[in-house]
Amino acid sequence: TSLLLIAAVAGYLLGSVPFGVLISKAMGLGDLRKIGSGNIGATNVLRTGNKKAAAATLILDGGKGAVAVLLARAFFGEDAAQIAGLTSFFGHCFPVWLGFKGGKGVATFLGLMLALYWPVGIACCLTWLAIAKTLRISSLSALVAAAASPLWAYALGAPEIAALAAALAALIFVRHHQNISRLLSGTEPKIGQK
Ligand code: G3P
Repeated sequence: TSLLLIAAVAGYLLGSVPFGVLISKAMGLGDLRKIGSGNIGATNVLRTGNKKAAAATLILDGGKGAVAVLLARAFFGEDAAQIAGLTSFFGHCFPVWLGFKGGKGVATFLGLMLALYWPVGIACCLTWLAIAKTLRISSLSALVAAAASPLWAYALGAPEIAALAAALAALIFVRHHQNISRLLSGTEPKIGQK
């Protein structure tokens, strides 16, 4: 169990690195928390108009979830990999460095799912892309991809990650409560809009 604790703490610390905030600051784009939705994720970085900064945020926020899973798996095995994936997600959503006011966890969720079982990760990414291509709303794409993830886990032969996927999906819905209100009132901006 102490090994699982190490995996949990390492996952949290990796997840807590707020790449969107760091990249925006480093590239002179301002304080992300005062732009657009105020969220620290790639979708909000894109509202600065800087696509490279948004892409870098997406890759690094996803990458930290994947690295957390892969490291925990390499050192401590499959249970630790799931725990580190979960805590990397918590780290992104509740980073100690930002007074526990973090992001919504979508990129980190996709990255950790890719590392846990890549077919499910790919299916979630494709679900996100399919909604984003057609409806052009980031939050809605994330909500659909998250909700579909436990179903993908069963459909693609990885029922052992379905419970984690369902828990993360529930957390993603909670983190998107403001987006859900805007979606219901028809005021959620399209991708890239302020
Ligand atoms: O990944 C977060 C995304 O789903 C919504 O971001 O900035 O539109 O609240 P935002």
